[in-house]
Amino acid sequence: MLRDTDSDRRRSGELHETGTLRLPSRIHFGYGVRRQLRTILAEHGRRVFAVVDPFLAGSPEFVRLHDELIADGFTVEVHTEVLPELPVDSLTASGTVAASFSPDVVLAYGGGSALDAAKLIALLVAHGGPLGAYYGENKVPGPVLPIVAVPTTAGTGSEVTPVAVVSDPAQEMKIGISSPYLIPVAAVVDPELTLGAPASVTAFAGIDALVHALESYTAAVLPVDWSETLPVFTGHNLFAGHLALEAVRQIAPNLARAVADGGDREARAQVAYGSLLAGMSFGPSGTHLSHALQYPIGAITKTPHGLGTGLMIPYVLQACVPVIPLRLAAIDAALGGSESDPSIAAHDAVDRVAELCHTIGIPRGLADIGVAQDDLPRIAELALRSKRLVDMSPIGSHPQTLLTILEAAHAGDRTLIADPADRGRRTPGARS
Ligand SMILES: NC(=O)c1ccc[n+]([C@@H]2O[C@H](COP(=O)([O-])OP(=O)(O)OC[C@H]3O[C@@H](n4cnc5c(N)ncnc54)[C@H](O)[C@@H]3O)[C@@H](O)[C@H]2O)c1
Ligand SMILES: [Fe+2]
Repeated sequence: MLRDTDSDRRRSGELHETGTLRLPSRIHFGYGVRRQLRTILAEHGRRVFAVVDPFLAGSPEFVRLHDELIADGFTVEVHTEVLPELPVDSLTASGTVAASFSPDVVLAYGGGSALDAAKLIALLVAHGGPLGAYYGENKVPGPVLPIVAVPTTAGTGSEVTPVAVVSDPAQEMKIGISSPYLIPVAAVVDPELTLGAPASVTAFAGIDALVHALESYTAAVLPVDWSETLPVFTGHNLFAGHLALEAVRQIAPNLARAVADGGDREARAQVAYGSLLAGMSFGPSGTHLSHALQYPIGAITKTPHGLGTGLMIPYVLQACVPVIPLRLAAIDAALGGSESDPSIAAHDAVDRVAELCHTIGIPRGLADIGVAQDDLPRIAELALRSKRLVDMSPIGSHPQTLLTILEAAHAGDRTLIADPADRGRRTPGARS
């Protein structure tokens, strides 16, 4: 009988699946919910430090919000120093500016970059620098300033997650700061604000949201020691599983529509909703190998986060087929599949994900984005440094496992990873 490799450990009682959710105390979703912002901000004080994507600071929506806040008696400082890739020195400077304003609350308004910047500015104001002291997990010593997060892209889920990612010239690749204290107090997700995002931003952010859901759902089931401080990411968990599958159901049928026609309000809403659910899912559970591998790939090729995670996900899932076929079969159903034989459905899931990536313009292979064959061992080595991510891998993190995935991704050929028993049996669609 087909089963996932962790089924026996669960049946024997060695592994119990548990549930963890850590979320903002308020989450609002839908067209129009941005009109709640004044009320929500007022719950935290009158001095608002607004960290705003520089492109959006002059947008009619933000100008209106700003004017309404001023009319209501708020004191607002608008800060638009959100640099691409979030260099750590620029954040330190922003933290100093913010501290001198003495804010009550931080408003985060923009894509994942602005949201992550706001989280780190709220951290710096509360606890001081340097940010390097907080790299890794659970290093933030206590609550940060309250953050009200308003995403304008549908993808990162940063409005609900405990992580922010920075670049530091002393590190070879971007590095995360993860702590439950970084979870915003409120997430206001209004798809209206995503309508202007260009097709490439929509595609890369949207596929990253799907990868968050897929990796949360396929994350390893980890033993959690409930008598100790909990890790930030706890692996596959009961609540996160439901949220992840619903995120897949929302994003998969709508992402290509939103990319093809940015004015498609229904598709925009479903993708924004799915992205939020995916963030709510992976915030407590974690993501794994596509993310670990994207960090060095992004550093070498200077390509966006979602392009890298989207490129890698079909290869990572292919490697998961022999280990967690039942979970992949459940993903296939969420993707719209109706195959009842799980051994076939697991493969179908990978084919469907690869097809979606292709449709929205994600390159098929690492060679297409300038990665050389010689770079692969170094990429594998660097990926292993992201312990919080590789620990969530359902297929372990042996360097050879990562190298096999990378070699297939370099060649753009998933059959190079296929289980020997499956080779030849399922070739259609296997070339990603
Ligand atoms: N904290 C987390 O949980 C998490 C998760 C995944 C990714 N990230 C981080 O998020 C960042 C990527 O975020 P992103 O994909 O949202 O992109 P982004 O914030 O970097 O924005 C990309 C571009 O889109 C523009 N833009 C954003 N919203 C727009 C809109 N509504 N209309 C027109 N233009 C718009 C921005 O001006 C920018 O030029 C990376 O730094 C990544 O590391 C964080
Ligand atoms: Fe991501």
